[in-house]
Amino acid sequence: MKLHGWMLALAGLGAATAVAAQDLKTPSSDQYVPRLGDIMGAAQTRHQKLWLAGKAQNWDLAAFELRQLKASLVEAAVFYSGIPIGNVATLEPSLQAVSDAIDAKDGRKFAKGLGDLTDGCNACHRSLQRGFVVIKVPGELQPFANQQFAPAGKP
Ligand code: HEC
Repeated sequence: MKLHGWMLALAGLGAATAVAAQDLKTPSSDQYVPRLGDIMGAAQTRHQKLWLAGKAQNWDLAAFELRQLKASLVEAAVFYSGIPIGNVATLEPSLQAVSDAIDAKDGRKFAKGLGDLTDGCNACHRSLQRGFVVIKVPGELQPFANQQFAPAGKP
């Protein structure tokens, strides 16, 4: 899905209003809905993998991880109507910047975009009294040692 498509989809929901952070409105669906912390755990994984793929200039993988990350954020907003839509919408420019950097295969712009995106993660955490969850641009440590991040054919 294109970025603007999901933003429109989010805007169309209309159900989200700001509520106290303590009341993030657990979904009442009969179907299984992941806990918000689990969705965020997936977002954390994808944020990390996005970084690793971009560092390795594996742009196909980076594009995939960015899609996955966006899907996690959309899920959070769709399932948890207590999350103000504006909090997700403010991430749109940095998500777009990362997407553009991936298309342009531009490592410098990618790093800048990911930094801004990470600030956006933390801005939402702070605004919902979760400021103790601080996301940062990953360092050089190699997590996910069981997955290759370099493009196929490169060591
Ligand atoms: C729209 C608001 C919002 C945005 C944007 C957001 N988060 Fe969260 N995040 C939350 C909330 C609310 C919680 C606390 C969930 C809870 O209390 O169960 C949370 C919790 C977390 C946690 C802790 C989960 C755990 O169980 O340890 C992580 C990790 C996390 N977010 C990562 C991210 C990352 C990475 C991004 C950016 C790519 C991000 N978040 C963007 C609202 C947001």
